[in-house]
Amino acid sequence: MPPPLLLLLLLLAAGATAAAATSSNNNKISGGGAPPPPTPTPWPEQFHAAIFTNLTESAGRLQLIDLYYDWPKGRNLNLIRNQLAAEPIYDVEWNNGTSYIFDSASCRTIRFPVGLLPPDWLVDGAVYLGRESTDGFDCHVWTKVDFVWYYEDVVTHRPVRWNFFNGMQQHVMSFDVGGVLEDSQWQAPAHCFSDKEVTTGNSGATAAADRVEEGEDIKLDVMGSFLRFAGVPATTVAAA
Ligand SMILES: *[C@@H]1O[C@H](CO)[C@@H](O)[C@H](O)[C@H]1NC(C)=O
Ligand SMILES: *[C@@H]1O[C@H](CO)[C@@H](O)[C@H](O)[C@H]1NC(C)=O
Repeated sequence: MPPPLLLLLLLLAAGATAAAATSSNNNKISGGGAPPPPTPTPWPEQFHAAIFTNLTESAGRLQLIDLYYDWPKGRNLNLIRNQLAAEPIYDVEWNNGTSYIFDSASCRTIRFPVGLLPPDWLVDGAVYLGRESTDGFDCHVWTKVDFVWYYEDVVTHRPVRWNFFNGMQQHVMSFDVGGVLEDSQWQAPAHCFSDKEVTTGNSGATAAADRVEEGEDIKLDVMGSFLRFAGVPATTVAAA
């Protein structure tokens, strides 16, 4: 069976594409004298952000995540520390669609039909919602396809927070432009590549993510797939 979350995301993405098309038409019509709404600042090509994640409304727990976004090298890494967990979980996402989610004992490989979000992923199709103070910062707020709500500091243009439709809230605690992680940290361990007990998702799942699992099931932390699905092109959704 395809994971229900992925199906949900695909359905949402399909609806959202239509919504985005409608809103961009509206923008063209409204033309007039009003100044254009602010546009989100593209992400730097490389950054490190420490992110406090509140999953109270979705998975019921808290996480600290070190996010390393590395567009030139086609990769994105979430180093996820669940509250009071013995060890962190690595979620290494490659631009070819493959993600490795692993700890010292387990590994899950997921193949997505989309690559990484480009630095300007929010610019296209984002709807401006106005200004709001959040986490003590005066922010511009945009939503993309009612899927993510994105808060950017009015003065510094740094991201402050983003929320996903399922209630997951991420607060940016530090934002280090140019911050990179050494190459050795990106390498998935050997136990991601043993070929025993590999199962591949059925045809329904293939449209969303061709899933390859082995060993003990790591609880999939969905942030990576959220960011991937925020970038699912309309053609992929239509094919599903
Ligand atoms: C997490 O989010 C929930 C729901 O919005 C909120 O009630 C709670 O105070 C938050 N917890 C922390 C530690 O931010
Ligand atoms: C994508 O790239 C990663 C890292 O180089 C590699 O391990 C993986 O096998 C590649 N996936 C595909 C489908 O080529």
